[in-house]
Amino acid sequence: MHGDPLRKGRLGTGRPPALAEFLSSMEADRWIAEADILVDIAHLLMLRRQGIVGEEQATAVLRALVRMAEDGVPETAFDDRYEDIHAGIEAHLIAIAGADAGGRLHMGRSRNDEVATCLRIRLRQEMLLHMEAVTSLRAVLLRIAGDHTGSVMPGFTHLQHAQPTTLAHHLLGYEQAFTRDFERLRDAFARIDRCPLGAAAFASTGYPIDRAYAAGLLGFPALVENTMDAVSARDFALETLSAWAILMTTASRLCEELILWSSAFVDFVRLDDAYCSTSSIMPQKKNPDTAEILRAKTGGISGALVAALTCVKGLPMSYNRDLQDLTPHLWRAADTVGRCLPLLSGMLDTATFMTERMHEEAGRSNSTATDLADVLVRDFGLPFRTAHGIVGRAVRMGSLTLATLDAAAREMAGISLVGLGVTDAVVKRALDVTFSVTSRNQPGGPAPEATDAFISGHEEQLAADSRWVKETRGRIDTALSDLVHTAQDVVQ
Ligand code: ARG
Repeated sequence: MHGDPLRKGRLGTGRPPALAEFLSSMEADRWIAEADILVDIAHLLMLRRQGIVGEEQATAVLRALVRMAEDGVPETAFDDRYEDIHAGIEAHLIAIAGADAGGRLHMGRSRNDEVATCLRIRLRQEMLLHMEAVTSLRAVLLRIAGDHTGSVMPGFTHLQHAQPTTLAHHLLGYEQAFTRDFERLRDAFARIDRCPLGAAAFASTGYPIDRAYAAGLLGFPALVENTMDAVSARDFALETLSAWAILMTTASRLCEELILWSSAFVDFVRLDDAYCSTSSIMPQKKNPDTAEILRAKTGGISGALVAALTCVKGLPMSYNRDLQDLTPHLWRAADTVGRCLPLLSGMLDTATFMTERMHEEAGRSNSTATDLADVLVRDFGLPFRTAHGIVGRAVRMGSLTLATLDAAAREMAGISLVGLGVTDAVVKRALDVTFSVTSRNQPGGPAPEATDAFISGHEEQLAADSRWVKETRGRIDTALSDLVHTAQDVVQ
């Protein structure tokens, strides 16, 4: 460890290692070490351009920074006797470039704006990966749905057989939910992508810095303008955690269904062996562990959101050290989401859907009773409530046949369905699951023509969203690599 540059003045030296470690954010700062080098470079190029730091000193520090950008931050900078990576890197720079040059980098800034900038840079990168993973997941769902627009299955409410639908319709429900999850990530991204640098401790600085220039170098399209808010705001993290918690909740519900569907009771899906485990005692077992762990991880993300909200809610303006303790929740959640999404895509992509079993179940428990009531309304002029009552009473009598329906109609409404012209063939057709599904052709409904239209529309949306992710990543990557090249040119 080089001497801690921060503790030379005001404070007495020497404190128990356990205390230093307790106060240090070093472990979580591994996430932002690379971003910190970029922030240092951008800040220094700005100081140099504004004439705040002389050419010679700027070059000496830039040389050390470029070395770290190329080779990585040295392990000595991660010593957790430093309060954080900002102190560790500054100590390293002073050791390499000398106190006269290295000691000038921190002019016109504070670790408060520095850390907020680093968090936003790294979080942008994580969010782009997540958004890309959500687009892949949507592509898998659209692909499977496209293969199964004619695969009839039961739809459920209250987990009771309700009405027939198709596997396509069911999966497209998730695809639509994941599309909203994508939109939430993109909305949060827009507010992450703002630069707090130059806010310094909170009151900006008297040096003639150029905030917009430094922000531009780091690929930020705009500033977090008010400097008080710039260092104290973590709502970008709260919003992101919230978007992740909702996204993972969608994923968890889908996992729950895969778990249910892979039970022998249901047998609607066979998951690929890779995603399953067996038992140490029961040789026959195949357990859907990936879906279970994913369902459990969702709780961890919700927990991270609550921890972060609770951390912030009592903080007065502006920076408070509590904020440091929020950050590990953010990174743990980022890592979990980043690992879960591709696994979910893979698990779906390799699953086998048992369409015959689904078809077998589609008509169970009088699931087409609504269609029968609708036929009595549409073709025989009954009010819906009367038809609903007649069909319900016939179900209560034990079965849906012309005989029970006619008896129910006499009992309940004093009319004869046979007299109205209802025949066995009419009843049979109305109860057919395929008739039921194909008649539900409203936009967003299960009829194959409706699901086909949905798939086309969402394929277009998906292509546009994927383009957006690619272009945004391109914009940011270009800015950051231009930044490093500019620094390399200066020191050459
Ligand atoms: N390690 C700190 C964090 O993560 C950086 C800012 C420290 N600022 C301070 N005034 N102590 O939030």
